[in-house]
Amino acid sequence: MKKKNIENLENENYEQENIEYSAISTENPDRSDKNEFENPLRPRFLHDYIGQKKVKENLSVFINAAKIRGETLDHVLLYGPPGLGKTTLSMIIAAEMGVGIKITSGPAISHAGDLSSILTNLGAGDVLFMDEIHRIPRVVEEILYPAMEDFSIDVVIGKGQMANSIHLPLEKFTLVGATTRAGQLGAPFRDRFGVVLRLDMYSQEELEQIIIRSASILDIKTTKEGAEEIARRSRGTPRIANRLLKRVRDFAQVKNNGEINLDIVNYALERLEVDELGLEANDRRILEAIIKFYGGGPVGIETLAAAVGEEAVTIEDIYEPYLLKIGFLARTTRGRIATKLAYSYLGIEYHKKVEQLTI
Ligand code: ADE
Repeated sequence: MKKKNIENLENENYEQENIEYSAISTENPDRSDKNEFENPLRPRFLHDYIGQKKVKENLSVFINAAKIRGETLDHVLLYGPPGLGKTTLSMIIAAEMGVGIKITSGPAISHAGDLSSILTNLGAGDVLFMDEIHRIPRVVEEILYPAMEDFSIDVVIGKGQMANSIHLPLEKFTLVGATTRAGQLGAPFRDRFGVVLRLDMYSQEELEQIIIRSASILDIKTTKEGAEEIARRSRGTPRIANRLLKRVRDFAQVKNNGEINLDIVNYALERLEVDELGLEANDRRILEAIIKFYGGGPVGIETLAAAVGEEAVTIEDIYEPYLLKIGFLARTTRGRIATKLAYSYLGIEYHKKVEQLTI
């Protein structure tokens, strides 16, 4: 199943991998930016991957079983909040299966032809990683169904009376779809994924291990207390942990000869306005808006978004998951409410409202 090298990537960490980047739409050129994927901090194999124990254990069984049978892995759907490692896992799946990977995203594929050209260029057993899969247009989704099920597509060539449909067989492949919103995929689409895995936020201990691993790769000296503190403020998310590590390193370099310790972490995170729980200015603005403008809620997501000048999807995908997890926000049928915990965290006196009893 091993496929010929498509591209020779410069980064030696990835030189054994077959990675090809398919950014079809000019609306989304960032998907063609290889640097986004050539991140030395990404673990390459399952044994380097910290956290998501159940996902890892199950995935390892599915991968080994497929390899023993000499088959391609069933299609995989990964879902969960952003920054938890969906792209990384798709690359690990390809590496563990010993196949190539092509990377694209739902919104980058705007026409049926875009998908056809990606699919017909896949090698035997390849992984096609599609990020934000809930955003693929309906017409594209319909081509994907037979491709996923029968490994073939029907392509229409020509227009009007000259139009002709030809049936094209494809190589067997594994579609790895990633989404922050599994609920937005229709049931017929979701059901075509043989493996569905939910990624959860990471524990503080797991984040600490990730930070220590990243610090070692980046050659940053850090004390245990320093790593622990960054982990505590990383909102359960490795992407945030690695970002904070790099920013704290900047302060450490300028103020402390490059060494990260607890004092430097506290200093840097205060300067970055990341508070003790990892909340940033926008998180606090959202909670304060609910409390100050809407009496603690419930308030509809669109109204709240307008009040804080953000898109509703940004609140739902980026800010809300952690606020829900730490119990500062609750979702009701009539909108979002700030909880008693949020009031006490912000130092605002709590008045229980009758509506809040109807969660
Ligand atoms: N870097 C980012 N996410 C990681 C993970 N889950 N394990 C190890 N390193 C990581």
